[in-house]
Amino acid sequence: MIELAPSILSANFAQLGADALAAIDGGGTVLHLDVMDGHFVPNLTIGPPVVASLRKTIAKVPFDCHLMIENPDDYVAAFAEAGANWISVHQEACVHLNRTLHLIAAHGCEPAVVINPATPVHMLDEVLDIVHHVLVMSVNPGFGAQKFIPSSLRKIEALAQIRERRGLSFRIEVDGGVDLTTVGDVVRAGAELLVAGNAVFAHGDIRDNARKLLQAARGATAMRA
Ligand code: DX5
Ligand code: ZN
Repeated sequence: MIELAPSILSANFAQLGADALAAIDGGGTVLHLDVMDGHFVPNLTIGPPVVASLRKTIAKVPFDCHLMIENPDDYVAAFAEAGANWISVHQEACVHLNRTLHLIAAHGCEPAVVINPATPVHMLDEVLDIVHHVLVMSVNPGFGAQKFIPSSLRKIEALAQIRERRGLSFRIEVDGGVDLTTVGDVVRAGAELLVAGNAVFAHGDIRDNARKLLQAARGATAMRA
């Protein structure tokens, strides 16, 4: 099932709750929360208190916490406590990835793994059976509004093929540069959880932007390989 996960990174942080609710009203069914530490990526964003505040305003949709941080194990409990439902960690940031994914599950959240554009899919072979989803970064993480990297498409295709061949059930998420010009390609490649920040929040009406993006994504499912 195609789902839109609006990324609040491009929202107006002075009215985060209202912006997030507008994106949900426009069809977003997962809220994507980008957590950056200024070390793993060259930017700083939000921590558990902001997640907890949003949780008070937004009861229903799952919170998809994308941790772009070093030592994610140290923060899993705090994000779970704050109201995260899904927690994703970067393969590149985890020396003991299997342990980290089990730690996330032990805190009652769905564990997920993320790969940067330069990381090949085969790095995930040994964890694909224990993750709720795989997030394929289609930009180098750290900032919104970057240009989609086309080589991500064959990584999405490869993951869909591996899932089929091994009879697994992880979902495939894509993050970075997803907009009306790229959403068709990512859906046809096999992505089903679509993160979008700039395309939803940066210009115009948030509800309309979300609606149009979802509509374009659903239109492309009919043409899936
Ligand atoms: C980038 C973040 C993304 C970001 C995507 O490091 O992980 O979630 O918000 O933004 P857009 O959709 O603007 O590329
Ligand atoms: Zn993200």
